[in-house]
Amino acid sequence: AASLPESYTIRALRKSDYARGFLDCLRVLTTVGDITEEQWSGRYEWMTTQGKGCYYLLVVDDGSRIVGTGALIVERKFIHNLGLVGHIEDIAVAQDQQGKKLGLKIIQALDFVAAKVGCYKSILDCSEANEGFYIKCGFRRAGLEMAHYY
Ligand code: ACO
Repeated sequence: AASLPESYTIRALRKSDYARGFLDCLRVLTTVGDITEEQWSGRYEWMTTQGKGCYYLLVVDDGSRIVGTGALIVERKFIHNLGLVGHIEDIAVAQDQQGKKLGLKIIQALDFVAAKVGCYKSILDCSEANEGFYIKCGFRRAGLEMAHYY
């Protein structure tokens, strides 16, 4: 398995990560918006209470700021004998930190959590441009994404 650079740690998201640039890290992925600390706290609290056992958000901390993140959302099904499916979402590595295997490490950690909580598979959507990255992480093409925006 890939190892993290010296002084880097991978860990669960904390409420205090608002001040460590967590949202800026996500901005490499897409629009985040201007989220106040109060709004952040509200969403964080929801995820750790009502969403407990469903949301696993990980971060890579380089010792001074958040440089990578990824999420696993665990879906509880009726099919496959009450099967659990992991959904890998919002993988982001800071622009200047890409290519150091941080993305791979995040996926490996999320895979570990998914297997540990009992998911029989994990799935994700990505662009064609990122297919090679997920293949290196052990994923393979399966199906087709469709979306309906509201
Ligand atoms: N295409 C092909 N191969 C790639 C790509 C790519 N786009 N990106 C990385 N790789 C390869 C690397 O070369 C490396 O291969 P190697 O083991 O042979 O050296 C391997 O994949 C692992 O790469 P990492 O260094 O771990 O990749 P990185 O830390 O840069 O993270 C990521 C990749 C997450 C795609 C990053 O570039 C990023 O944050 N991009 C912008 C946001 C984004 O697109 N996120 C993914 C959205 S999809 C989703 O969230 C489910």
